[in-house]
This record gives sequence, C-alpha cells and structure tokens, in this order.
Amino acid sequence: KSESRQHNPKAAFVVIANRLAVERITDDDGEPAWRTSPGGLVTALEPIMKSKEGAWVGWHGAPDETLEPFHHDGIDMVPVPLSAEEVEEFYEGMSNATLWPLYHDSVAFPEFHREWWDAYVAVNRRFADAAAEVAEEGGVVWVQDYQLQLVPQMLREQRPDLKIGFFLHIPFPPQELFQQLPWRREVLQGLAGADLVGFQVPGGAANFLRLVKDRLGYETRRGEFVRPDGTKGRAGAYPISIDSQGFQDLANDPATIARAQEIRDDLDAEIVFLGVDRLDYTKGLRQRIRAFGELFTSGELDPEKAVFLQIATPSRERVEEYKRLRDDIELLVGRINGDMGRIGRSPINYLHSGYPRQEMAALYRAADVMVVTPLRDGMNLVAKEYVACRGSGDGALVLSEFAGAARELKQAWLVNPYDINGMKQAIVDAGSAPAADKRRRMRALRKQVFTHDIDHWAETFLKDLGLEA
Ligand code: ADP
Ligand code: G6P
Repeated sequence: KSESRQHNPKAAFVVIANRLAVERITDDDGEPAWRTSPGGLVTALEPIMKSKEGAWVGWHGAPDETLEPFHHDGIDMVPVPLSAEEVEEFYEGMSNATLWPLYHDSVAFPEFHREWWDAYVAVNRRFADAAAEVAEEGGVVWVQDYQLQLVPQMLREQRPDLKIGFFLHIPFPPQELFQQLPWRREVLQGLAGADLVGFQVPGGAANFLRLVKDRLGYETRRGEFVRPDGTKGRAGAYPISIDSQGFQDLANDPATIARAQEIRDDLDAEIVFLGVDRLDYTKGLRQRIRAFGELFTSGELDPEKAVFLQIATPSRERVEEYKRLRDDIELLVGRINGDMGRIGRSPINYLHSGYPRQEMAALYRAADVMVVTPLRDGMNLVAKEYVACRGSGDGALVLSEFAGAARELKQAWLVNPYDINGMKQAIVDAGSAPAADKRRRMRALRKQVFTHDIDHWAETFLKDLGLEA
C-alpha cells in the first residue's frame, strides 16, 4: 500500500531514472493504486533501497500531472512531472528520436532539433534538482540511462558532497557517430560529472574515454579521467543482468509448467521458434521475419511442423519511426502467412502485446529455439531470461553478435543479423542440433547467467563507487 505520510525527507541512497519504479494499476476495489514495476533494476536495488532508506526519483508516466512524493513497499518514490510538450520534446524527441537511434549505430536516422535539446536540458535540470533536494549530506546517487546524461554534472555543481554514479543501459557509440551530435560537449561534460560512469561493455567505456580526451581535452589514464579542476572520475564496463534465480523459480512453478504445455498444445508444432522484443527498429525484426519467410518458402522449415512465434511489445507508439516499423512488420507477417499458411495454420504467430512475467517464463519454457537478433543492443535481457528458464538444460539460443549479451553468451549460435543467409543457417542449425550439443551449450550459458546475475551487477558497481553494502 502506498502512504504519502511516511515519506522520509532525506535519503542516503538515491536512484534517478526516467521511469519511476512503480506503475499505476486499478486495485481490487476499483481504486487507483501503484504496483512495483516488474523490471530487474527494481528487484536488484530493493534490498539496498530498504536498508539505506533509499529514494527513487523518476517520471510516473503521465503528462501534465504533479504528484507528491509517496512511500511504496519500503521505498520513497519522488515523482518528477513532465508537461505534454516535454513528453514530446524531451522523451519522444531528444531521448527517443535523437539519442536512441544515434547511440544504436544510427540504424534509424537521428533527428537533431534545437527545441528538443532545450527541453532535454530543462528536464535533466528538474531531475537533478529533485535528487539534490532528497539526497542527504554525503549520500550516494545513482543516475540511470541516456535520458539523463546531464544530471551527473548538474548534481556535482549543486552538491559536491555527493557520490555520483551513472550507468548507461544502451550502447555508447564510437567517436565517428557521436560527433554528429551538435551538443556533444555538453553531453560528455554531463556524464563526466559522475565519479563512476558505467557501460555495458568495455568498448563503450573506451569510446567514452577517448571522446573525453579528444573533445574535452581531459587527461585520461587507465580508465580514469581528470576534470579541469583536478578532480577525478572513472569509467568501466558493468554488464547488467537479470534475477536469474527468480526467473528459474518462476519457470519451475507448476502453474507456469502447465501454461507452457498449453502454449505448446495451442501452437500444435513439432518445433517452436520464439522472438520476444519491444517493437523497436534496433531489434532486427525486419531481417528476422524475412529470414523466417524465406525458410518457410524454401521448405527448409516445414510450415506444417514449425512455427515462429513473435511477441512484439508496444513501445514509443507516437514516435514516427516506431509507427513505420509496426506497419512494415505487420505487412511482412501478413504476406508470409497469406502465402504460406492454410486455414487454421499460420507459420508466423505474431502478437502485439505486453504480458505478465509468468507468461513470459511460460513462453521461454515452451520455445525450442529462442531467436534474438538485434542490429545493436546494449545488453538484451531477453536472451538471459531464456537461459535462466531452461532448467531442463535443453533449448537453443540464436543470438546477434551486436548485442552486449554476446560477449557473455558465447555458446549461443552467434549471428550477424545483416547477413540473412548466415542467420537462416544458424536458425536451421540451432533447430536441428543434436540434443547433446544443445545441452553442452546450455550448461555453459547457464553457468554464466547464474554466476553473473543482477545482484552481482549492482554490488560490483556500487562497490566500485565506494558504497559498502
Ligand atoms: P529493451 O530494454 O531494449 O526493451 P531487453 O531485452 O534488455 O530490451 O529487456 C526487455 C525486458 O522487457 C525483458 O525483461 C523482457 O522480459 C521484457 N519484455 C519484453 N517483451 C515483453 C512483453 N511482451 N511483455 C512483458 N514483458 C516483456
Ligand atoms: C530500454 C531503455 C530504458 C527504457 C526501456 C523502455 O530498456 O534502456 O531506459 O526505460 O527501454 O522504454 P520506455 O521508453 O518505455 O521507457
């Protein structure tokens, strides 16, 4: 239950993310209420949030609404308001039509608009102010992701007593791409305000350090950079992960097992291929669906025996590029099913919807081959979730080389998603691999995912930031 009265005025540990860690629901009595978001970040930080009187600063998801701070499930929630115009310019614009495509290899064309940048600065300032207000003297603040890259430096200026961490959940691009950004200096200075800047992979940290040296003229050495005032910060790789045990437990729940069987029965196929992604152009859906279309057409996959189930979560639906993607995907799927299906049987089963976590676990359990082929992805948690749910030791993962997860999940069938023939071959190989080969690979994958879970990630980062658990 949420109670505004218990809100603490000061917190020793503050997380700042664009999204608050709760989502709005309607409770059993039909009253509006909050529910903790199912994401891994909240799960990972929950214990430390509770033990350190933590606060979470974030946007609650609705435009033009100002909410008082409230206490939910042991965590102080500090909602940051966004006007409808800011949702358009800061969230849909600068964050998701400029930075998101630019940082993902420019797989869609990034747009640069000065009004969007102004909104980005204003909203980052609001988040920084909210955190400065709630953080106690000498406290630790952890800023999350590309929407809030200016917050570290803004906070450092206001509150030099704080320890500031930043983690980028998406890729950090090479200099050649990053320097297109008209506000490249401001963004670099913003990030370099943090004591520790974390990236998903070492390449991201290297890109950042090189830019800080070349563009800002800061001295850099062995992961350290020196600001003009002589103070130092560090950058490094901290690959994020999932609540591996939590997923495994969920997958082994009798209700999940029964649901997975039901899904298999409904699909009525000898072999099930699965894709699960936010409907985002970075996920390589166009290429993946084309590959399956060709496999079904050529007969390499028999539409009577194989099915490809693609779950596409609705996302950022007001951004043009996302609208276009949805139209493209639905056209492609419709064509393939129209050509290759028959009454009562479609080779591609496409669903545009979000599901509860348990349904996700059932889907992972039901899939013989998980196909994760982003063109570029900071990490990709879906790949790790699939592995965590395969307690039986079978199943096969086809994974893009361009996902951060590929650095850890080396025993997957790794593919270049731009190479359609190579991807088709990997899909066929993974689907027809001998059981012993699949088990050997899955064992290695599971070892990685269980020794490097979300707790390991949070502990490593916070320890390097200087926070004792
Ligand atoms: P991204 O952060 O780009 O969306 P990730 O694969 O890293 O990609 O994380 C996606 C998260 O969203 C995973 O935890 C996954 O379980 C969840 N998710 C994806 N699709 C759905 C869906 N249709 N319903 C519910 N959860 C989903
Ligand atoms: C990615 C980003 C997150 C973002 C999430 C969902 O995982 O790294 O920062 O919250 O996608 O996107 P949304 O725009 O709905 O917050």
